[in-house]
Amino acid sequence: MTITAGIITVSDRGYRGEREDLSGAEIARLLKALPARVDAIAIVPDEKDSIQALLREFADQKGLDLILTTGGTGLSPRDVTPEATREVIEREIPGLTEMVRREGARKTPFAALSRALAGIRGRSLIINLPGSPIAVRENLEVLMPLLGHAIEKIQGDQRDCARPERPSTGSALPGS
Ligand code: MTE
Repeated sequence: MTITAGIITVSDRGYRGEREDLSGAEIARLLKALPARVDAIAIVPDEKDSIQALLREFADQKGLDLILTTGGTGLSPRDVTPEATREVIEREIPGLTEMVRREGARKTPFAALSRALAGIRGRSLIINLPGSPIAVRENLEVLMPLLGHAIEKIQGDQRDCARPERPSTGSALPGS
């Protein structure tokens, strides 16, 4: 299955053309490996209404499987991507962002400063990523192995879950 994806860069400076959108381009490059086809790319300022309008358009009109935002997840006064996302998603998936922050903390303690959310709207999986290309890469490294299965489940796949292989660390439980 080729996943259809949309990328939304949230950045005042990027929107004004004062900064090149390196993170959006990095997401597009990395998604090819899924495989995913990027059907929509946009840059919006750090404004809740603009972010929400695009999230709704990408989910409701375009019906994209996966919508990734980059930027605006931090602590500065203009960072509103999580607030915008919270009102648009119908169900949150805390485990995804918990894992991203936990794994990110192995690389930098600053991973804790991202307030990113993940959730579902209709048939779309929406995930916030931080704004820097390196953070995007580190986040997607953690998320990519899960995305195909997550999207299948969101779209109604009822098959039993085949667990992906993990390096065995042994089990304390008898008979397992
Ligand atoms: N997560 C990972 N894995 N690697 C990073 O370099 N940068 C952090 C954090 N998450 C980072 C990361 C930093 S410095 C910030 S301020 C927050 O994401 C929020 O970034 P944003 O405001 O650009 O969205």
